[in-house]
Amino acid sequence: MEREKWVVGNWKMNGSLSHCYNFLDFFQNLQCKEPRFFSSVNIGLCLPYVFLPFVSSHISSRVLQIGVQDVSEHLSGAFTGEVSASMVAEFGAKLTLIGHSERRQYHSESNELIVKKVQKSLDYGLVPLVCVGETLEERESGNTESIIAEQVEFLFKLPLEALSKLVIAYEPVWAIGTGISASAEEAQKIHHFIRSFLKSHSVSLQSLSLLYGGSVSAKNALSFFSQSDIDGALVGGASLKAESFFDIVRLAAV
Ligand code: PGA
Repeated sequence: MEREKWVVGNWKMNGSLSHCYNFLDFFQNLQCKEPRFFSSVNIGLCLPYVFLPFVSSHISSRVLQIGVQDVSEHLSGAFTGEVSASMVAEFGAKLTLIGHSERRQYHSESNELIVKKVQKSLDYGLVPLVCVGETLEERESGNTESIIAEQVEFLFKLPLEALSKLVIAYEPVWAIGTGISASAEEAQKIHHFIRSFLKSHSVSLQSLSLLYGGSVSAKNALSFFSQSDIDGALVGGASLKAESFFDIVRLAAV
């Protein structure tokens, strides 16, 4: 199976209705003018839940695949404040971001919980984009690979067929929102490690798409995209402006 290219934006808790409107307008126009970019790269955008109905009803998933930044591990019931995979699927989501380091850090999400959220996403036909990555402390104590291995290994609890539908993003926590990205060589080394680790579980998993995230911008994106094990990017800050986000998409399509 061929590895697919992805560029996925994560707006975090940013944006507004008018921002959504302008963003969609920009992408809609570009799709008419430059359709080739849209056929060679999967472009995703993970938004705050409230924007989902508006955005998904105003743009085709051939232009942007809309996603959310989390889902509940439950299906329904007395879980105040939670939103389920079935709900977001009904309102047009195609992707879920699971296990982002800000969820792991500020909401104490464990690897066990993350696997449950991945399973719920898959149950409703959503593509889970699972984030893994080490903190600065873990990196400095030489534990990067063991931490990543532990995070990825938890996913092996899923049936192989489910696993083959995931996209994984390697995001070193120290590189997120800091303006200090990993070097392309460092990122390649870890992506290669993840791919080999997946392959050791099943050969079929070597074709999963692996994305790099952490201070990706139009300035450094090409250095990541030219690495043999990197299939795209998860983009935070630079996804907020349609122009800068599209500049990254353009580089992925090269
Ligand atoms: P950043 O965020 O691009 O702003 O570093 C990446 C992310 O949190 O996914």
